Amino acid sequence: MTDTVTFEEIKAKQQKIWSSGDYGKIAWITVPVAETLAEVVDLRPGSRVLDVATGTGHVALAAARRFCDVSGIDYVPALVDSAHRRAAAEDLDIDFREADAEDLPFDDATFDYTLSAIGVMFTADHQRAANELVRVTRPGGRVGIASWTATGFVGQLLKTVGKHAAPPPGSLPPVRWGDEATVREMLGEHVSDTAFSKTRVTQRFLSPEHFADFFLTHYGPTHMAAARLDDDGRAAFRADMIALAAESNKATDGTLVSDWEYLITIATKA
Ligand SMILES: C[S@@+](CC[C@H](N)C(=O)[O-])C[C@H]1O[C@@H](n2cnc3c(N)ncnc32)[C@H](O)[C@@H]1O
Repeated sequence: MTDTVTFEEIKAKQQKIWSSGDYGKIAWITVPVAETLAEVVDLRPGSRVLDVATGTGHVALAAARRFCDVSGIDYVPALVDSAHRRAAAEDLDIDFREADAEDLPFDDATFDYTLSAIGVMFTADHQRAANELVRVTRPGGRVGIASWTATGFVGQLLKTVGKHAAPPPGSLPPVRWGDEATVREMLGEHVSDTAFSKTRVTQRFLSPEHFADFFLTHYGPTHMAAARLDDDGRAAFRADMIALAAESNKATDGTLVSDWEYLITIATKA
């Protein structure tokens, strides 16, 4: 942490990033990640589940469809609205709230499962968010986290973003949550039986160019970065995104088929 920038200031900037673009238009990209997390933690029907940084509600919806009693929080009001609407469309009763992952509005030991898919990795103060995950989980309950890795596609994408438009000074790299040793240290001694697994979600776009334009339009981190650049800078940024996508491409027919790696952490609250 620098002397001049606080985590609260960084968080305010990051909140604007997630409010920009239209995350709702792109959120379905991580539906399979949420479904995988819900399975890997072995949710038991009737359990109390919290989805931290729920976005449009993927993990919360996955848990509610498994007959759990679910809460979900996010600090972007439009995304929480969207999560409410999705739950209503399926007639699922989920307690969605606007709240901060670093200051959860729940008592200690409230939840059987505290989950976050591609969520807490984007908080400002990682240690505070980790402490909160552990605090609200009951002894014997599980913490389950899915996070992009540094070497995977989104880790490389975030690196590309940083090359063209520097992140807020003092901000921590989100992919720390994709590193086993760092996550183990952050969760600390209040958890045991921590297990890690790396897996991939396959993404499909019409072409590498389609991917770049889709992300530049809808995905907050790339949308905001592009907005800070002049025309030449934006063109160079787009070209790097296309090159990254092309490099990861498994398809040879002009479309884009790309595997995006993420780390799943499952830990038991001691
Ligand atoms: C990549 S999105 C993932 C959303 C959702 N979990 C999913 O699987 O689609 C990251 C989310 O983290 C949320 N977020 C980041 N920091 C947060 C914080 N301190 N408190 C609450 N939400 C936060 C953002 O608003 C955004 O919805």
